Formats: sequence, C-alpha cells, structure tokens
Amino acid sequence: LKNLGPIGVIGGTGAHGFGLALRWARAGETVIIGSRDRVRAAQAAEKIKAKLDSDANISGDSNAAVCAACGLLVLTVPYEGHSALLNELKASVRPGSVVVDTTVPLVAATDGRGRVRASLPNSAAEQAAKILGSEVSVVAAFENIGSKMLTKEGPVDCDVIVCGDNPNAVATGRELAERIPGVRGLDGGPLANASAIEQITALLIYFSVRNKSHCGIRITGLPPRAGDAD
Ligand SMILES: NC(=O)c1ccc[n+]([C@@H]2O[C@H](COP(=O)([O-])OP(=O)(O)OC[C@H]3O[C@@H](n4cnc5c(N)ncnc54)[C@H](OP(=O)(O)O)[C@@H]3O)[C@@H](O)[C@H]2O)c1
Repeated sequence: LKNLGPIGVIGGTGAHGFGLALRWARAGETVIIGSRDRVRAAQAAEKIKAKLDSDANISGDSNAAVCAACGLLVLTVPYEGHSALLNELKASVRPGSVVVDTTVPLVAATDGRGRVRASLPNSAAEQAAKILGSEVSVVAAFENIGSKMLTKEGPVDCDVIVCGDNPNAVATGRELAERIPGVRGLDGGPLANASAIEQITALLIYFSVRNKSHCGIRITGLPPRAGDAD
C-alpha cells in the first residue's frame, strides 16, 4: 500500500466511505477523505479523529485534490452520481493509480421487499474502467461489507472479494481488505465477475432486513493460507 501513497476515499462523507476510512485510519494508514465540498470532507475527517487518537493520519479535501494526492483511490458514491463524477475527476486521477470501486447499482424491488441490482449490461466497476481508461487499474471490492459492520468495534465477519484485470491492483485491493480485522481479501478473478458481487449485495440486504441483522458473506472450501489460524 505504501508505494501508492495515502488512501483517498472519494465520497468518504457518506456511510460506506466513512466506515472504510475509519477502519484504515485505525489500522495506521494515512487516509484523505474526499467530498464535493472540502469543508464537509474536513468535518468527516475530524469526526474520525475524534473516534481514534489524535495522532490518526486522516484529513479531508475536495474529490479532485484527493485524486491528485493519492495513487490509491476508493470510490464510495451512489451509482446515480458515479459516471458523471468519474468523467469530472478523470483529468485529476494520476496515471498508474489503483481505483477500488465499491459501488452497487441498486433499485427498489418491484414487490417492495428490499432492493435488487439494477438491470444493467455492465457492473459499476466495468463502467469506471471504461471511463478512466487504460492508464488506471480499476478493481471492484467492498460491495458485500455493510457500513454498520465497519463502524462497530471489533472484527468484521465477512470476506471481501476483489475482482480486476490487473493482478497487482487485485493484490492491492486484497491488502486493503485485510487491514480490517476479521476480513479475508479474496481474488475473485476478472473485472467481468464484479456484477456477480453486486448481485450478492442485493441478496445480503434482503437477509439483513428480514433478520434485522448485518449479514456478510464467506467463501468456504478454500485452502488455509500461511499465517491463518487452523
Ligand atoms: N452503505 C453501505 O453499507 C454500503 C455497502 C456496500 C456498498 N455500498 C456502496 O457504496 C457507495 C456509497 O454508499 P453510501 O451508503 O455511503 O452512500 P451515500 O451516503 O448516499 O453517499 C456517499 C457520498 O457520495 C457523495 N455523493 C452523493 N451523491 C452524489 C452524486 N450525485 N455525485 C457525486 N457524489 C455524490 C456524497 O458526498 P459529498 O456530498 O460530501 O460529496 C455522499 O456523502 C454506494 O455506491 C453503495 O452502493 C454501500
């Protein structure tokens, strides 16, 4: 992570970006929260600082300034604003950056029971890759982990599946995931697999609402890794 500089969280004033920024700042990473309004970004950073010790390396700035300062960007904005924002920020994103897209395109279910994935030909992350071009590596990750899991104390019971076409960027996404206690960052194959991950989020929302809980996902049957507990 260190080679890419600070972690920039675009839209980090919202629930998801705030929770992720909190976890990474708590893990000792340098984080910059991005917003369309730099004052709002600074306020979110102060809120995180207040939850952690005052030495936490967290600040806030405009989304464009965050893109210019960070080689590792995490996109946490609603799908509705996703492509317009990326088109606007494209010129500020540094060539060689890794962009981790957490966006899930969701719409209300027609029967009123929860939310379903919008019927789209591509995933949000594929859309981001198309907009940002070949000099930026986009991975999809963190779609299946809820913000409430992130803002509570203690380990998070959830795998984070990272999909992308650049192996180094996937490795970065997995490393980022594993800075959160309890989380396994798994290689989920090419970016084309991201729409399957988005579908799972719709399912997890259904389980969470039905059970008044915060449901996550675990992949079973994987071989143990060096360093994992038996
Ligand atoms: N919440 C979760 O538990 C969760 C879990 C998994 C995945 N996700 C995904 O993470 C993303 C963010 O979720 P969220 O719940 O944090 O959303 P949110 O609170 O509605 O929005 C996050 C931030 O995005 C910015 N934003 C809002 N509308 C925008 C627009 N039209 N253009 C540009 N920026 C805009 C806002 O920041 P400023 O106004 O400060 O710019 C806002 O604070 C979504 O794509 C969601 O699918 C969320």
